[in-house]
Amino acid sequence: MDGGQILLSYTKVWVILLLLSATFRNSKLAAKNTEQHKKRKLATENSGFISIDCGAEEDYLDRNTGISYKTDKDFISTGKNMIVAPEYNLQTRFKNSVRTFPEGKRNCYTLKPRQGKNQNYYVRAFFYYGNYDSKNKTQMFDLYLGVNRWATVDINVEDMFTTYYDIIHYSITDTIYVCLVNTGSGVPFINGLDLRFMNDSPYRSMNGSLLPRVQADLGGHQTQSSTRYEDDVYDRIWQFDVNLNDSVSISTETNIDIQGSDNPCRLPVEVLRTAVQPRNGLNSLSYNYTRYTENSEFLVFFHFAEIEQIAPGEIREFTITLNGLNYGLFTLEYLKPLTIGPYKLQDQVRFSIDATLRSDLPPILNAFEIFKLGPLPDSPTNQTDVDAIMAIKKAYKIDRVDWQGDPCLPFTTWSGLQCNNDNPPRIISLNLSSSQLSGNIALSLLNLTAIQSLDLSNNELTGTVPEAFAQLPDLTILYLSGNKLTGAVPRSLKEKSNSGQLQLSLEGNLDLCKMDTCENKKRSFRVPVIASVISVSVLLSIITIFWRLKRGRLNVSLSSLVGLSRKELSLKSKNQPFTYTEIVSITNNFQTIIGEGGFGKVYLGNLKDGRQVAVKLFSQSSRQGYKEFLAEVELLMIVHHRNLVSLVGYCNEHENMALVYEYMANGNLKEKLLENSTNMLNWRERLQIAVDAAQGLEYLHNGCRPPIVHRDLKSSNILLTENLQAKIADFGLSKAFATEGDSHVITDPAGTPGYIDPEFRASGNLNKKSDVYSFGILLCELITGQPPLIRGHQGHTHILQWVSPLVERGDIRSIIDPRLKGEFNTNCAWKALEITLSCVPPTSTQRPDMSDILGELKECLAMEMSSEMSMCDSVKISLVLGTDMAPNLR
Ligand SMILES: *[C@@H]1O[C@H](CO)[C@@H](O)[C@H](O)[C@H]1NC(C)=O
Ligand SMILES: *[C@@H]1O[C@H](CO)[C@@H](O)[C@H](O)[C@H]1NC(C)=O
Repeated sequence: MDGGQILLSYTKVWVILLLLSATFRNSKLAAKNTEQHKKRKLATENSGFISIDCGAEEDYLDRNTGISYKTDKDFISTGKNMIVAPEYNLQTRFKNSVRTFPEGKRNCYTLKPRQGKNQNYYVRAFFYYGNYDSKNKTQMFDLYLGVNRWATVDINVEDMFTTYYDIIHYSITDTIYVCLVNTGSGVPFINGLDLRFMNDSPYRSMNGSLLPRVQADLGGHQTQSSTRYEDDVYDRIWQFDVNLNDSVSISTETNIDIQGSDNPCRLPVEVLRTAVQPRNGLNSLSYNYTRYTENSEFLVFFHFAEIEQIAPGEIREFTITLNGLNYGLFTLEYLKPLTIGPYKLQDQVRFSIDATLRSDLPPILNAFEIFKLGPLPDSPTNQTDVDAIMAIKKAYKIDRVDWQGDPCLPFTTWSGLQCNNDNPPRIISLNLSSSQLSGNIALSLLNLTAIQSLDLSNNELTGTVPEAFAQLPDLTILYLSGNKLTGAVPRSLKEKSNSGQLQLSLEGNLDLCKMDTCENKKRSFRVPVIASVISVSVLLSIITIFWRLKRGRLNVSLSSLVGLSRKELSLKSKNQPFTYTEIVSITNNFQTIIGEGGFGKVYLGNLKDGRQVAVKLFSQSSRQGYKEFLAEVELLMIVHHRNLVSLVGYCNEHENMALVYEYMANGNLKEKLLENSTNMLNWRERLQIAVDAAQGLEYLHNGCRPPIVHRDLKSSNILLTENLQAKIADFGLSKAFATEGDSHVITDPAGTPGYIDPEFRASGNLNKKSDVYSFGILLCELITGQPPLIRGHQGHTHILQWVSPLVERGDIRSIIDPRLKGEFNTNCAWKALEITLSCVPPTSTQRPDMSDILGELKECLAMEMSSEMSMCDSVKISLVLGTDMAPNLR
């Protein structure tokens, strides 16, 4: 993050005023009975709040907000508790206790919200110096959220108020670290830390965090009660001191229907009950956000509710002008909240709200919010490595001051640890020599799969040396000397050491047997010998067949394929050869056509055992057809997967070539997506189809040796069973590559417009990533319901061209298929979109592997299923954007 920018534009709020007003409210509302407090306490704990009073000596319940504050002892193990100097005492415990970090460059709070990763959180940190160290010195240090710089904290000695920094952060990890980093300009300290879960909220940016800049409760009075939890479910701190030009306040005592569906930002009643309108005779409200920062992007939300009863026949109608662009018309309903936005803006925020000519009343505005978009997040350390190092830390009870926060980022501060510069970073070296480790060699060490150097020498380690060390591909240094290890040294490790691939040191382990003779003492011989005789013969026959198939691959002659005896084929698969006469009878003389492709037609068929099949007949004349036929027979004979359409048999009689497949009752995805109304695929079904298709493709790419590239992935090649299980079909263009990572230059044009990898089109260079691109387009179709080439007035628009401006605007509602009527989990939708966009960068090396995509999609599906289960998520949010609104009013 750019520190300078943050410094200029962070929100510094006079919380002391809020505190005074909270006290005021307290007296106004008199005492509350304890039962209510109990209820509140429960509500707090369940609502996804973590509230920490840093430096406090004990947990307590804050009577003003009903929030339970905890001491920080369960969240951090470093630092010292301090109290502000007497002359700075603010008479509130929260402000007066301080945790300070004179030691260590980086100290981190570890927050583990119950809702876990892939969720949106509001995080806020409070700072009040109060000369706690009697040094009377201005303090400056950095605040990090996870691995990303969040803000530069700059605290003045004279400040008699609390400064806070807040951020809305979408966490892709289960653990959120808030770290204070000493940058040499003062000792880091902190007074309080809040985390609030934001369930399925529109406060989200596509690829970063949101930094609140203005959260204005217009028309509110500073002497009025401060609006926080539990009036505000997110516990926002609203500002009253934001002034619009020439405006006056209005307010109501009547209740506002915040349960309504137009309150996606979950505004409190108290905020909506007050508003501003222009001074008499004026028709316009305007505001300029003056903290001009170049190259910043902002997100703006406007919040309205009509709080005046309007005479029958009169209307309040207005437009919004934002940085010179006009939006609207808008009208309001009595006591109904309406959020307009978010609008994404560049560099500045200037708005005016103007009554239209026919409006009888001036405009009003109840509240608005401006967020600055945070920069792109850095990826935290590879999760497997993090899990492994945490398990190691726990297993050996390693208690080092610097072993906290992310292991590799923002800079490796964990002693004994080294990381590489990959994104995400990996742990490549661990040195725990002379660290008083005892017990066995922790198996978690084997989960550090990128490790190059491991030094565990001079400890008290017992037990055997795990053989699996030999499987760590990059391990070149393994020092185990000076321990109490026993048993035999695994042969594979010795081999690696002898061949010079591994520097292995084992000296000083007195009971360790380094001879070859101590291996395998207990093995029984008979059973494995018989078993291996059998398996070798089976293996040999399989290898023979596979080898023949493979040899035939580049220059397959069908006779050699079909020339395999029936017995060999049946060993390989259950595919049966059919005669042409049988094909005629199966299809009842080619009665029902169920599909058509470049190669010929597909017919419905019935086997004698009653099974329905699809019969693809290759046109006799087409040479292309012949090639495709061969490619497909070849492939489907050797690959089998639940998400690949399976071959029942084939026919090859002279000119007559046919393939017989299992019948897919729900046709292909392309047609299915065109269907309307009741039969339409819902969001969860779409995700399931995406997962199925990804599974099939992942198998082709990573489960097959050699890997197979489909080359013609598209929605019409995704077939659906009766239960909507998806299977990939049509392997006519697919190619197998001799070795993984290999890519070929292919000269014949292939693929379908809209789905073709631009890099392949430009260079003819074909690899697995070309399929990944096509898969991305397919995902995009599933999400948006649009075809890859969208027909318009001026020819076709590619689906990515259509979607990218909407992504830029953060306008998820316009991206997702409108026929779904908003019935999906917003976070899940964002995630699906992120996955989609990750598949389609123009350069193939930037696209992920199918296994990563599959993992992400599964997470997305799980997210959707869990949110379907919790009914509260099914409340539909309708974000009304200006342009959508206009037709309703004309
Ligand atoms: C591990 O650290 C010790 C002590 O600092 C050092 O002597 C040793 O060389 C290190 N090991 C490796 C593999 O660098
Ligand atoms: C290693 O990682 C796997 C998968 O990430 C995990 O299931 C397993 O428990 C880990 N093993 C240890 C010993 O930590």
